[in-house]
Amino acid sequence: MVILMTVLFLILATFFFRKNNSRKNLNLPPVVKSWPLVGALYMLAKDPVNLIRKNYQKHGSVFTVKVFGQSITLLIGPEVSKHFYTAPDSELSQDELRQSTIPMFGPNVFIGAPTELRQQQTQFLLKGLRPQLLRCYVDQIVAEVQDYFSKWLDCGTVNLVHELEHLITLTSSRCLLGRDVRNNLNEEVTALVEDIAGGLRPIKEQKTLLARHGLKIDFDILKEMDVLYRCIKEALRIGITPVIIPRYCHKNFTVSTKEGNEYTIPKGHIVATSLVAAHRVDHVFKDPGRYDPDRHLPAGQKDMPSQPFSFIAFGGGRHTCPGEAFSYLQLKIIWSYLIRNFDLDLVSAFSVGEWDGTDELLVHYKRRHLSI
Ligand code: HEM
Repeated sequence: MVILMTVLFLILATFFFRKNNSRKNLNLPPVVKSWPLVGALYMLAKDPVNLIRKNYQKHGSVFTVKVFGQSITLLIGPEVSKHFYTAPDSELSQDELRQSTIPMFGPNVFIGAPTELRQQQTQFLLKGLRPQLLRCYVDQIVAEVQDYFSKWLDCGTVNLVHELEHLITLTSSRCLLGRDVRNNLNEEVTALVEDIAGGLRPIKEQKTLLARHGLKIDFDILKEMDVLYRCIKEALRIGITPVIIPRYCHKNFTVSTKEGNEYTIPKGHIVATSLVAAHRVDHVFKDPGRYDPDRHLPAGQKDMPSQPFSFIAFGGGRHTCPGEAFSYLQLKIIWSYLIRNFDLDLVSAFSVGEWDGTDELLVHYKRRHLSI
């Protein structure tokens, strides 16, 4: 589904921005070889992730894909991403791209909404996401999670992706939109979902917390769930769906790659970064296909230092996601509840490094209480 949306976005975007620019004497990024006229459309439609990965290996961190004459320049990895994340909207903007997202999200939702409405919606959300309010949401999320899992039988098999999508929609709407909206949600509504791919250490951590605090979960106890936090963060790094983050370029800018190449990205290009590719850059994430929560340990406790704009599950810089802290809060509450109350066994075939955001992940559950 997400692949389809990415392709649809790129195809539609190309029809909205086709401009002629004077590009003489500029050192432009290498261009991916493709068919005349339609460009890389076929490759994009068939397997966008592979297109991005293959060309990253071939050309490095900066390359241009052409679709119907529109240049889409990919910037992958922290070295070439600073301007992408920090440039003012007058230089790299989302506004022009909004037309192309309307078929996906509708005309009145966030990026698809006219600027003024979008700003109002963001302000509305930001109010609800103020750090001091997060503490108050814990009890509401815990109640919602308990209620949700009380409906599970003593044992059974579920599609965990579907279950968590539904639960996250319920908890988000209860906290951010209020009880009335939440009570009117039905099972069709979808939301964000992440998988944390197990591991024994979060279980040990929950045992320690149970011994220390009993069954209680509050804001401060959640802050003690460091192992679980790193597991979730690593799941977001490795399992994030292959969404691209796009901008429209209004003003030429240059980027320098770590190999020492300097490229100018000209006005008129669509500039994008790919989460799935950026999270697999191996000089930033050692052995990137491996699920290793410890790579997110604080500086000084791990072998590879973090660089700004390397972990970009929540974007970064000017348009960084305001929902990050809220999302960790929700995911920690849900997963600590699951770990404390169920044995989970994976039924679906699953390979951590290869997960493509598929929307089915069957899990067999059995109710039990975690013994201390
Ligand atoms: C695991 C959960 C989430 C992930 C992975 C995520 C990811 C992202 C990413 C990558 C961006 C940057 C887009 C860009 O630069 O164009 C973003 C922006 C945004 N996110 Fe999230 N998000 C999550 C949860 C949330 C939640 C819970 C909310 C609010 C309730 C939220 C609200 C927003 C808003 C309003 C923006 C736009 C910010 C701007 O343009 O200045 N997100 N998100």
